[in-house]
Amino acid sequence: MKKVMIMDTILRDAHQSHAATRMRTEQMLPVLSALDDIGYYSLEGWGGATFDSCMRFLNEDPWERLRTLRKYLVKTPIQMLLRGQNLLGYRNYADDLVEKVVEKSFENGIGVIRVFDALNDPRNLEASMKAIKKYGDMLKRTDPARGICEAAISYTSGPVYTLEYFVELAKTYESMGADNICVKDMANLLLPFDAYKLITALKKALRPETKVHVHTHNTTGTGDMVNLMAIQAGADIVDTALSPLANGTSQPATEALVATLQGTEYDTGIDLKKLIPIAAHFKKVAADLEMEGVLNPKVRQVDVNTLVYQVPGGMLSNLMNQLKKAGKEDKLQEVLAEVPNVRRDCGYPPLVTPSSQIVGTQAVMNVVMGERYKMVTKEMRDLFAGKYGRVPMPIDEEVAEKVLKGEKRITYRPADDLAPEYEKLKAELMEKGFYTQEEDVLSYASFPEVAETFFKWRKAQRQGVDHDLAASGTYPV
Ligand code: CO
Repeated sequence: MKKVMIMDTILRDAHQSHAATRMRTEQMLPVLSALDDIGYYSLEGWGGATFDSCMRFLNEDPWERLRTLRKYLVKTPIQMLLRGQNLLGYRNYADDLVEKVVEKSFENGIGVIRVFDALNDPRNLEASMKAIKKYGDMLKRTDPARGICEAAISYTSGPVYTLEYFVELAKTYESMGADNICVKDMANLLLPFDAYKLITALKKALRPETKVHVHTHNTTGTGDMVNLMAIQAGADIVDTALSPLANGTSQPATEALVATLQGTEYDTGIDLKKLIPIAAHFKKVAADLEMEGVLNPKVRQVDVNTLVYQVPGGMLSNLMNQLKKAGKEDKLQEVLAEVPNVRRDCGYPPLVTPSSQIVGTQAVMNVVMGERYKMVTKEMRDLFAGKYGRVPMPIDEEVAEKVLKGEKRITYRPADDLAPEYEKLKAELMEKGFYTQEEDVLSYASFPEVAETFFKWRKAQRQGVDHDLAASGTYPV
């Protein structure tokens, strides 16, 4: 009998998707022990935007949050999301910082690291996976449920994204040391029957001990069906969120899946009754977040545009905003027709952040200017120059010439250009007087200005400055 496992995203993706990542640690605390008792595969609680949001909006040290979560989550591993060589931020970091972030994440309480690259370039996961293996294997020796390396495939659709493409990529990640392979469908582009085929193919091609983990959202309303079909095809783990912050742009609801699988060969073993009081707590939290104005109930609705236009919901609203600014709202159909052309020119990158924005902006420019590639963003040039990594297909040479204007193209791993940076950043932080722990350097590396503002606030707090004054931002510096 095959038991399906669940990762609950209530402490990370659920509130990132519904409430701009604004759930505070104190809103999690009352139910952490109860969550620990459920029997989840893992609880996603860190990484992604939580790192930025903690410091920027909540005056919380993200590392302190992690340590607090770990204190209460004794049995259930905490899972985090890492953007490969981009770590917790949005630029390429040097390998020494990549290693340090992985080391400190495990040390402070992470059990499973899901790592992905937006372009699905395995070279961009080399440094992070090597570090995850190094520190994860040490952790596994004392605790086999922790120290897990989960490599994620950014799911996208398009002519090159065949079953063979995904299977080859998954096998590459497996050979690089991944314990789990995740299909990460951030835009809910994956359709239920495609999910069945994809998971069937992956389970057949991968080693029996490699777990297949499915991550989707319910943006277009297909999320529950995707999970169910994936489970029937042999998926080991699927992601859901407790109902108060589930559905719409978030994950499908945990309770619904647990009930669906109950008594079947896929039973999760989770006691539905135990979920009720925890969900009741998060119902109050969701109401508070809505009162604060960070949760707009619209995020719970089904958005069918992605199904019609084959572009992620976030990308579509960006396109419409850009056209509105240019006063060319009537050009939407032309822009949507231009998106696949631009994508072909630059080698068919997955339509996920940041390439979805880069491709979308270029399609708008091409249509609005009336001439293709007359204007090009710096990001588009960098994409053509190979600075984000390798795209799955060859780029169009004629377009590349027009875009790059003689700029050098790189074919090696982008991070090979970067000199070590940890010691330099540490010295900088010490000189500024904000260094209190090694983890501060990593916060500072990820979001320099946000971290510095947070450190100032923290210092003011520790020196016993009036709390209200400190909270209002008028602290002595
Ligand atoms: Co997600």
